Order: sequence, then structure tokens, then C-alpha cells
Amino acid sequence: MVKMVDTMQPDYHFQHKHIFGIDQLSVQDILHILATARSFREISSRPIKKVPTLRGKTIVNLFFEPSTRTRLSFEIAAKRMSADTFNISASTSSATKGETLIDTAKNIQAMNPDVIILRHSSSGAPQLLAKHIDASIVNAGDGAHEHPSQGLLDMMTVMEHKGRIEGLKLAIIGDIAHSRVAVSNIIGFTRMGAEVCVAGPQTFMPAEIGRLGAEVCRSVQDAVRDADVVMALRIQLERQNDSLIPSLREYSRFFGVNRKLLELAKEDAIVMHPGPVNRGVELSPDVADGRRSVILDQVTNGVAVRMALLYLVLGGNKAGEGQGENR
Ligand code: CP
Repeated sequence: MVKMVDTMQPDYHFQHKHIFGIDQLSVQDILHILATARSFREISSRPIKKVPTLRGKTIVNLFFEPSTRTRLSFEIAAKRMSADTFNISASTSSATKGETLIDTAKNIQAMNPDVIILRHSSSGAPQLLAKHIDASIVNAGDGAHEHPSQGLLDMMTVMEHKGRIEGLKLAIIGDIAHSRVAVSNIIGFTRMGAEVCVAGPQTFMPAEIGRLGAEVCRSVQDAVRDADVVMALRIQLERQNDSLIPSLREYSRFFGVNRKLLELAKEDAIVMHPGPVNRGVELSPDVADGRRSVILDQVTNGVAVRMALLYLVLGGNKAGEGQGENR
């Protein structure tokens, strides 16, 4: 059982300068981030979507892998809090001329940014960077290791729709082996007291997955049966050297989340996907766009969660502080 704590207790302080993964966060940290994100969410629906909270701060998005949601929502989050933001992608950086990640980071550090948000294909790249520079590092996805802001926005979305995480059954279906989203969600949801069941092709199931706290189901039907939340994952073709499935058509037939499979879940079960969705592969289009789908809520909550993370790593502390006009 998770002991729910009062995130506003006076002796609690968020103490993380860097966000490398959900694994470094306690239950209290997670609750505090989610409470802070909820306090920021309303800013995005104001006519003037800007508060001065991070005025004068410099935030660099350093993305060595493609991204739509994560990069844009970190940038929107920073701008809504009046920080100055700059974007560097692999294809337009001097990494294409042979510069190493550490040299790139040291050169960025010489311009004195406050936060570097890093997406990289190598697991552990954010920790490596943090050893060499002074700025806060926020992991925006590193190899198959973790995608902490995705895990947090997923928890925020489930809290919003279910009112709790503890005691829920979460089914995660698909390419578990290559998915940093799966790792962050297994760690986060189990830490918060949910039951997490994973299912997918044998070739997509890492041997050590049980160590993270997930139950490995023999079939997608077993995983989805009586689930409160069904999360489909994208097949990460970019992280596979060999073809691990016979064909996408076969994958869709046996492991795709469709209306028939969802009949096994609870009547009020919600459907999630971190995006980008391969329509007709992991999710049938009618499910992706259907009444149970909360995929776009996940994206909306991504901005609030990323506002909270930037605020907290830069020293903000109290949930609820963020919404005032003068912050
Ligand atoms: N969910 C996610 O990380 O999406 P992007 O790759 O578009 O950032």
C-alpha cells in the first residue's frame, strides 16, 4: 500500500536539481510535481497565457532525436513562464561535424543557460552531461532508459480521469523492450500503488521487466481484462536492429488495441498512448479517436507537467505558487 502524503507539509522540499528518471522520485516528489502541475494548468486557458515566474531564465532544448510533443511542450511550458528558450536539433547542430555530446554541452554551458532539456538515443546521456556542466538537466527521453516527463503526464492524466492511481489496474501493451515510456510508467505507477500488467510479443518482452514491478501477462487479453487504463505503445523501429515481428499486419491482428479487445476492460476504462500513434497498428483508428481515448488530454497535461518540472528544478517549491499573476 502506498502511504499518501500531504505534499504541502512544511518540512517537504523538492530537492532535485536534475530530472533523470522517475526512479529518482519518491511518492512525495511525484505527488508534489503533479500538484504543482495542476496549479499551473489553468495558465494555459487564460487569454494571456503567460506568467513571469521564470523571467530571466535561459532554457535550451537539445534534441538529438525527433520529437513533436516533448520538444514543443517543453518550449511552450518555458515560454508560458517567460523564460527565454532556444532549440538545437541534431541535424542543425555541429554534432553533424563530429562534435561530441560533452563538447557540445560545454559550449552551451559557456553561454550560461539555466536548464538543458536533453533527448538522446543513448541511455544515461543526461547523467553524463550533468557531470560536466552546471545547468539543470531534464531528461526528455534517453535511449530505452526513461522518459520521466511522459510518465508524469501519464500519471496526471490518470489522476484527472480516475481521481486516484492507487488500486488501479494499468495494462501496457506492445513494444516494452524498446520503450522508455514503459519503464517510466512501470516505475511510476507501481510506486504510486497501481497494478501494472504488460503484454506483447515475446520478442518485445525484456527478461528483467519483472524486476521493475510489472506483472508479465501471457496474453494481451489477460493484461486488458478488468483494466482501468489500457496503454498502447508505439513499435520503436528506430531501436531495433532486426525485425522482431513477422509483419505490422500480424502485429495489429494479435497485439493491436481495438474495440473487441477493449470489451474485456472495465466499462469506464480509458485508453492512452504516448504518441506518435501508428494508426491501425498499435491502435485501431476508432479506438484512437473514440470516447475512451484520452490521448490529447495527455498532450495537454504535458505542458503543465513540464512547467512544473522547469519551475521545480529551478528552485520553486510550493504547489499552488505558480498560478498567481505576479509569479
Ligand atoms: N511522446 C513523445 O515523446 O512524443 P514525441 O516523440 O513527439 O516527443
